[in-house]
Amino acid sequence: MTNHKIVVAIDGHSSCGKSTIAKALAAKYGYVFIDSGAMYRAVTLYALRHNLVANGELKKDELIGSLSKIKIEFRYNPVSKKSDTYLNGENVEDEIRQLPVSQNVSPVATIAEVRTAMVRLQQEMGKNKGIVMDGRDIGTVVFPDAELKLFVTATAEIRAQRRFDELTAKGEDVSFAEILENVKERDFIDSTREASPLRKADDALVLDNSYLTREEQMTWVIEKVEEKLRFKSTEI
Ligand code: CDP
Repeated sequence: MTNHKIVVAIDGHSSCGKSTIAKALAAKYGYVFIDSGAMYRAVTLYALRHNLVANGELKKDELIGSLSKIKIEFRYNPVSKKSDTYLNGENVEDEIRQLPVSQNVSPVATIAEVRTAMVRLQQEMGKNKGIVMDGRDIGTVVFPDAELKLFVTATAEIRAQRRFDELTAKGEDVSFAEILENVKERDFIDSTREASPLRKADDALVLDNSYLTREEQMTWVIEKVEEKLRFKSTEI
């Protein structure tokens, strides 16, 4: 064991299990886990509630003007033993995962001013290291110096199936076709947008988990973290 803490940046396509990996790593190493997507989702929920976005139609300038009124925090929930997302003091953890938010989040996340505000918050959260953050631009923009960068992906069909299983397990009435369409659409918007598009950092390791079990993938990831920690402990 070593006292050296690192930053782990996990990027990749939608619904490929980045958060699952990030949470498990944070729990194993006692690191802070930050789901940066939850922050873009919370901004989107604010926009939906204030009629600033509907079906991709976005009142961009009004949303930018409202950014100073949007306060996002993560608070630890001792019952579920995980952090919940709060929007202006309200726990919105469940609501931000529902389809109306998923269907509108990618256009919101294309706005450069929204990204600047979120990135500033994210960098502040990571300034003491010992953090695992997942998202789209963590290894490229938020923490370009992260010691370990992973780029996670899987086929669109497999990702949609996982998201479908997750939502139906929560009792939500969703169709597989609708989810697959949402996954593909977000991939497209996320990778083609002008502001910090989703792309693999040059020094990121690729993890295609289409045909890996959770255990297999964790074994692989932990090995990479251990390598980085060993390397860190040899640094002066
Ligand atoms: O549902 P999934 O886990 O795939 O996505 P998420 O991590 O909750 O992120 C939701 C959306 O926020 C993504 O589709 C991106 O449009 C946006 N996002 C982003 O632009 N940058 C990040 N660092 C994280 C998320």
